[in-house]
Amino acid sequence: MKDFDPALVRATELARSHLESLPTRPVWARESYEEILERVTQPLQDEPIAPEKVVDELVDWVEPGLTATPGGRFYGFVIGGVVPAALAADWLTSTWDQNAGLNSVAPAAAAAETVASGWLLDLLGLPALAAVGYVTGGTVANYACLASARYAVLDRVGWDVNRQGLTDAPPIRVIVGADRHGTVDIAVRYLGLGLDSIVVIGSDDQGRIDPEALAAELGRVDTPTIVCLQAGEVHTGAFDPFPAAIEAAHAAGAWVHVDGAFGLWARANESTRHLAEGVDAADSWATDAHKTLNVPYDCGIAIVRDREAHLATFGSRAAYLISGEAPEPSDTVPELSRRARGFAAWAALRSLGRQGVAELVRNLHERAAQMADGIRSIPDAEVLNDVVFTQVIVAFGDDETTQEVGRRLLADGTAVVTPSQWRGRAVQRISLSNWSTTAADIDQTVAALRRITADVRGA
Ligand SMILES: Cc1ncc(COP(=O)(O)O)c(C=O)c1O
Repeated sequence: MKDFDPALVRATELARSHLESLPTRPVWARESYEEILERVTQPLQDEPIAPEKVVDELVDWVEPGLTATPGGRFYGFVIGGVVPAALAADWLTSTWDQNAGLNSVAPAAAAAETVASGWLLDLLGLPALAAVGYVTGGTVANYACLASARYAVLDRVGWDVNRQGLTDAPPIRVIVGADRHGTVDIAVRYLGLGLDSIVVIGSDDQGRIDPEALAAELGRVDTPTIVCLQAGEVHTGAFDPFPAAIEAAHAAGAWVHVDGAFGLWARANESTRHLAEGVDAADSWATDAHKTLNVPYDCGIAIVRDREAHLATFGSRAAYLISGEAPEPSDTVPELSRRARGFAAWAALRSLGRQGVAELVRNLHERAAQMADGIRSIPDAEVLNDVVFTQVIVAFGDDETTQEVGRRLLADGTAVVTPSQWRGRAVQRISLSNWSTTAADIDQTVAALRRITADVRGA
């Protein structure tokens, strides 16, 4: 212990003081990447340095470069915070340092994942026997699910992609909505299908795929097909019309994948469940625990109904690994060695319970609605989406004003919203993804936006 104690004691103190600083520290980082790099770049020294000194030095130099993403007034991108039990479990995960690839070497990690997976499938109302893989995030979850989709749709026409590869394979068509997340395209690239295999279907003013246009495209050609739907559009939070879209896709023999990085969690709460009605009929689902569930980074989850297809896609054995007949955790993900992500996911679910998860999701939606109401009361501010879930997009007049309000809010430090474009207009995106955001945080944010908007107009 004498080697570990001083550094761990110091790290605990510093971690606690960071958590204490979250309600009052500027939310956006105070220094840029370039500024920090300039300040801290130095040659690697020859002599070792005591671990506790390294901890002090690290904290000293990172402090101005930390964004208060675990705090209640960070609304940028779609970034969750950390619930206490998951943070504690994550610390222990590093301490235990388990390689979660194999049941034999990491039985506790594997068991935690199995139990957390069962709870998760139950909470989200997905097939109890689906294969579940713990990956780095939504990007890799989309990739892992679509890898299984690729295997399965080719297998159905007698082509074994594992053995025969893609050269000379029947062409796969990937049908997506115009407002899919960009990581679906990334997955299509990684999978060697090529962006030219993508057929884009139009979407409505909230970003929902047009089910009639989808049905028409499905009937156009008969070729192995994957349809990608979405639970939670990154600007509007909108959900695709699952029952009609999935029925049409299945009638045409297509595999249906759902990117539900944050939106799938709507199913864990009664007042939002209807948004993702019928999504359980799909074939695969990607989601994140590091978004709505508020597990520390990183934790994404790939869920595939057809276990056989998923295990055939990722399963592997080697003589030197102690593997049994039962599926190994590594059989459901693209990596062999990896972090034991199941401990933190298990701890979040265990500490919140069914009611706690529902309450978390309900609070995010209610705070989003409160934010939208508050912003509507600011002169000339417009909320551009139907706030059905956790996302709010806002314009503060013309594009220049909208962009300037966002920039000044970051500099002001009260809160973080992040810029984007929606239907040709500059917007600020506001994502309610942090369990700890309170009604008072929203009031404080709206007050800051009101003040800044007036300043920008007066300038
Ligand atoms: C709908 C959607 N899909 C996929 C992703 C990618 O997830 P990750 O950043 O965890 O890889 C995001 C990220 O915000 C998202 O909102």
